[in-house]
Amino acid sequence: MELEGIDLASMRSMVLRFPELLVAKKPDIRFLEKARRAGESGISGICFVGMGGSSIVGEICRGLLIEQSNVPILTVRDYSLPKVVTKKWAVMVVSYSGDTEETLACFEETRSRGAKIFVITTGGTLAERAQGKNIHVVPKGLQPRAALPLMFSAMYPTVAALLSLETTGLDEVSASLRQQAQNWGATMDSPSTLAEKLKGSVPLFMGWKHLVPIAYRAKCQMNENAKTVAFHGELPEADHNEIEAAMSYSRHSVVPVFLRSCFEESTIKRRFDVTSEVLSEAGCESIHLRISTVSPLEESLAMTHYLDMTSVELADSLGIDPLKIDRIAHLKRKLASDW
Ligand code: PA5
Repeated sequence: MELEGIDLASMRSMVLRFPELLVAKKPDIRFLEKARRAGESGISGICFVGMGGSSIVGEICRGLLIEQSNVPILTVRDYSLPKVVTKKWAVMVVSYSGDTEETLACFEETRSRGAKIFVITTGGTLAERAQGKNIHVVPKGLQPRAALPLMFSAMYPTVAALLSLETTGLDEVSASLRQQAQNWGATMDSPSTLAEKLKGSVPLFMGWKHLVPIAYRAKCQMNENAKTVAFHGELPEADHNEIEAAMSYSRHSVVPVFLRSCFEESTIKRRFDVTSEVLSEAGCESIHLRISTVSPLEESLAMTHYLDMTSVELADSLGIDPLKIDRIAHLKRKLASDW
């Protein structure tokens, strides 16, 4: 099967195989064809439905494609859809397990509104309920957040097809990600070096444009894998509020981590540089991450891969098992029993 060679009892093993997972299960040609036809028939918008590791996949696609889209693209992480989502919309319902209650509730609502549904899952209740709909089934066994490349590789071309956009295949990106990972530590801090720098601190990941969802992903990976408090923000917005908090950063051990893009416009480059200077004047040194890439798509995925591995290194260094998510499981049990 497509997950051969991955130790499913090790998050490190799953994250190491990120580039391979990106090309492990290509979406069925009929699935993409249905999306292309839905797009050509005229959709009013695209809505992504999902939670946690399944939700971020849509956010990354949105960050990459929104500027070329002539319809709105929304993300829903809740039990219900906004009223604007009607039968003229395409709704992409993503749940790795297929059993997430918020996602299932939105699936039912999407069905009752008659919107065009595209499902990505491994199975579960969602797969059962989506029988006869457009469904892309991915291999089971990973943690949902480690399945990002597997789900992204179906989501990205599907969204592009809905928007009638041409996209390049992911084979080259996968090869480049493999290469990038071999250079970690040579051209930039290795993930373990960055993890050591972040140990005992509160990372604040800051991105711009397509790297905003990557900053959010990094925050979530620090939370879920390394059980560490972390925050995320975005420029230029942070310059209008967050920056005033810089005076308290050292008191709270906050370390700003700027996700720098090769595609920054000059105004944004200046913003990052000047923001960093202002933070430094307030006694807080920022970390700047850059990965040399040929496209925002490659940059988003390379940065995600690198920061995913940083969260695993931090977990290791703290003696934490990234796979154990006891509080999430406990909360789910309580929600089920107290109801
Ligand atoms: O990454 C994780 O493990 C979580 O954030 C899950 O993605 C989240 O709980 C939703 O589950 P699922 O992706 O199976 O719908």
